[in-house]
Amino acid sequence: MDIKIQGGKSIKGEVETHGAKNCVTKELVASLLTSSECVLENVPDIIDVSLTLDMITALGGKVERKDRSCVVRTSNIKLMKRSEIDSFSGKSRVPILLCGPLLARLGEVFVPSLGGCNIGPRPIDFHINALKSLGAIVEENEDGLYLKADGLMGAKIALDYPSVGATEQVLLSSVLAKGKTVLSNAAVEPEIIDLVSLLQKMGAEISVDTDRQITIVGVEKLHGYRHVAMPDRLEAVSWACAAIATGGEVLVKDARQKDMITFLNKYRQIGGGFEVRDNGIKFWRETDIVKPVFIETDVHPGFMTDWQQPFVVVLTQADGVSIVHETVYENRFGFTETLNKMGAKIQLYRDCLGGMSCRFGQRNYLHSAVIVGRTPLKAGKIVVPDLRAGFSYIIAALIAKGVSQIQNINIIERGYEDFVGKLTSLGVDVCS
Ligand code: EPZ
Repeated sequence: MDIKIQGGKSIKGEVETHGAKNCVTKELVASLLTSSECVLENVPDIIDVSLTLDMITALGGKVERKDRSCVVRTSNIKLMKRSEIDSFSGKSRVPILLCGPLLARLGEVFVPSLGGCNIGPRPIDFHINALKSLGAIVEENEDGLYLKADGLMGAKIALDYPSVGATEQVLLSSVLAKGKTVLSNAAVEPEIIDLVSLLQKMGAEISVDTDRQITIVGVEKLHGYRHVAMPDRLEAVSWACAAIATGGEVLVKDARQKDMITFLNKYRQIGGGFEVRDNGIKFWRETDIVKPVFIETDVHPGFMTDWQQPFVVVLTQADGVSIVHETVYENRFGFTETLNKMGAKIQLYRDCLGGMSCRFGQRNYLHSAVIVGRTPLKAGKIVVPDLRAGFSYIIAALIAKGVSQIQNINIIERGYEDFVGKLTSLGVDVCS
């Protein structure tokens, strides 16, 4: 699907944000750990949530959605049919997290090849190694992964890098395993802590210790949950960037300051203004010009890799040279080619520019960017390659004078609820 955006106008108004995509999907998977009823509140209406619910339904679960609530009952679950498995192939990264719950409930699971954003290789070796450590037998073939286990056993697991998905994998697999699991070098993103809180409500015994260590003592049975998912800080940041880039003003309802401290510091450094209110955060441009900055993406509590793309678009409007060093993904600057075609001046480098040397430094990855501003952007035809890059192109189209045509907006709908409606409510001329 395509949309056309008339750029060159400031955006003004308010938007609502709901449960975080990267939390809600995993919390829905957690409902498979119990045969009791689970209720998740603040669920956004986005494609990745619908896909997760379709997966639970295909596994025999019953799902009811009413407004922002989602009630899931998985008292009778079964393995999916081959045709059902294939229908989920390549669409999302969530299926890999079915392993723990389904091994606990059914003793076996087949995981189709994964989808998700096209931002580099995205291996799953940490997941597989962790599952093997917990006692799963894993067979890999070109269609996906087949795993079986006669009950998982707690283990000591050390991640090579604090991977969000692998940490969630260990949590969801070890809560019902026999004995104690000690996970070191774990990710501690707020979305993970939200999942830990939910699992604790279900009866799990988990402690988040110092130095990225998480200890899980397996229990025999978990019960249902009632939980309100944390707000989407990635969506909040996207609108904040749109506000400063267009010289506009946006109140992001329900945005939560404590999850965005690092972003807010950088926002202020480049000339962004914000006011933390009881019902959200209001964002605007404080200074006449946007100021250049140095950014290094990192795991929490660092500057998130998912904030990088919208921020880079803002930095094309900064008065001077900015540097962005991407240390989480080796290949997350592909989207800058389109920005350069629109008039931006962004040069990519293989070196670790500006700060620490990262694990991509000695290898052949273009993972640092130098952005020379300020450059006017030209409207044009834009094809969305992945979710966050997609929203960053929306911001570029808002800045550009003229009408931009944006193709593949369904990719943006994977993680942004009704973003076209929200743009319209902020005064943007959008048509299909
Ligand atoms: C999650 O991906 C998010 N996705 C990503 O958001 C986010 O960018 C990322 O965490 C980092 O915050 C979801 O939650 C669905 P990782 P995930 O495992 O869990 C390497 C978005 O736009 N790695 O923390 O897949 C990996 O290659 C998406 O919403 C391995 O080497 O990310 C990467 O370099 C995009 N082996 C690094 O770790 C593994 O087995 C971090 O990845 C796993 C990961």
